[in-house]
Amino acid sequence: MKGKSSNNFSVTQDEIPESPGLFQRIRYSIFLGTLRTEKVREGYRRLFNSLILHFRPRNVQEDTLRWTLTWGLGGMAVVLVFLLLGTGVLLKFVYQPLPEKAYESIVHLQNEVLFGRLIRNIHHWSANALILVAFLHLLRVFFTGAFHAPRQFNWVIGATSFLVILFSNFTGYLLPWDQLAFWAITICTGMLEYMPGIGLWLQALIQGGPEVGTGTLANFYAIHTAILPACLLILMPFHFWRIRKVGGLVVPRPPGQDLGQRGTSVPAIPSLLLREIVVALVLFASLLVFSMLFNAPLGQKANPGLSPNPTKAPWYFMGIQEMLLHFHPLFALFVIPVLMLVALLALPYINYHVDTAGVWFASTRGRGMALIAGLAALLGTPLAVLADEYLIEVAARLPTIPTWVTNGLAPFALLLAAVAAFYVFMKRKYAASNTEAVQTVFVFLVVAFVVLTVTGIWLRGTGMKLVWPWDIGTPG
Ligand code: HEM
Ligand code: HEM
Repeated sequence: MKGKSSNNFSVTQDEIPESPGLFQRIRYSIFLGTLRTEKVREGYRRLFNSLILHFRPRNVQEDTLRWTLTWGLGGMAVVLVFLLLGTGVLLKFVYQPLPEKAYESIVHLQNEVLFGRLIRNIHHWSANALILVAFLHLLRVFFTGAFHAPRQFNWVIGATSFLVILFSNFTGYLLPWDQLAFWAITICTGMLEYMPGIGLWLQALIQGGPEVGTGTLANFYAIHTAILPACLLILMPFHFWRIRKVGGLVVPRPPGQDLGQRGTSVPAIPSLLLREIVVALVLFASLLVFSMLFNAPLGQKANPGLSPNPTKAPWYFMGIQEMLLHFHPLFALFVIPVLMLVALLALPYINYHVDTAGVWFASTRGRGMALIAGLAALLGTPLAVLADEYLIEVAARLPTIPTWVTNGLAPFALLLAAVAAFYVFMKRKYAASNTEAVQTVFVFLVVAFVVLTVTGIWLRGTGMKLVWPWDIGTPG
């Protein structure tokens, strides 16, 4: 050997030994060692470093490393997405997206393929965990005011990723082609009918035919394994790049402290990297143990002629299915969800007057108000559900008024009025800022939606009647 290699990637002309061995020749062929000058190599090095630094910071604010700022939730979401991509690709080796073969391919995967059941379990539980983790991450970002300028658009990117995750779960749900999957997707795609104007067209497009069948499975499979993962792989780097561009995460501060104050910064390696590795390993280990202990559910093979009773949507859409029991479908399936979505995306663009970025719950008063709103929704929502069980029967007996008014417009207007009255009441009573009042309404609506979801999952039995959880039984 004439000289020493100056870096790991390549060698210069004068470093080539007179008779290179086989491995050296292969290495030079890959890294074009003989063709590169030191200047070109330096260029490559800079390009690589600057690309990485678009996503990964060199230094971070020490305060943002506090566990109680992020709870590691964003990092956990990243780990889960990569686990899903990895296990998803493995599942593709065995899974067959045809109604006659899909269910059998899953049974074969579980019983005859080495580690097949474990891979499926990891995919299943990671997917469900991802919804929870991303939702908690959304809450942490909201409650630490990390959506204020200049982070507004990153909130929109995050919210879009959340939708992609929901649809990934939804499209994956059909793939095992068991009774649970078939009927859940049948009722969900059936709901599209109520979308004014484009509903029926959209339904036929998604189902790939007049009902859930071969076309639907092919559509869902392609969307699930190609289109949605591609969307995530574009959205995620964009999300991280935006964090980089605004100088890192929001810096936590106690109520009243000046926004401009910066603390000490520390090198990201090892401080941040070490924490990220610990979170990733602990999460992975927990998921592995969970997947070894609990199997992903698989019911009987789908039977289009026999619907289970009750037929329920996947759990993350149960809040909407529960609303369907109280509102006219036009409102439950279209008006309210669309308004919720618009409100979520528009949230950072409200004029808040005061920038509370980095202060948990905006202030001490904000925390108190959020608590009151949470308790009000926790008590009020079950009462409203119970009252409606009886009111709806009374409304049905009113002869001349159309149901979209008695079951739709009227309760919807009542709901809007109640939320507006709550906003005004809380703002006046506590002389609250705009930020605190908006937060109060947000908490109220989120808790109400969670209560509806829980009611739908655990308290609805045969015929979607209210029952105690232990009386539900298993849908056949
Ligand atoms: C696939 C789903 C998601 C992934 C993988 C992801 C990942 C991350 C990561 C790793 C961070 C930095 C660390 C942390 O804050 O924990 C972050 C920050 C952030 N995320 Fe997400 N996120 C996702 C969904 C969301 C959602 C649903 C929202 C809100 C609607 C959101 C809004 C934000 C914002 C505004 C920040 C900056 C926070 C700050 O500056 O303190 N993200 N995200
Ligand atoms: C965010 C990403 C993803 C989510 C949330 C997700 C979610 C799901 C869910 C909930 C199921 C049903 C699991 C069950 O109970 O059986 C499923 C199945 C499946 N997924 Fe994914 N998935 C994701 C990414 C992927 C990717 C990237 C691929 C492949 C490239 C993939 C391939 C599959 C296959 C082949 C099945 C059918 C096997 C089975 O149901 O066990 N998934 N997915």
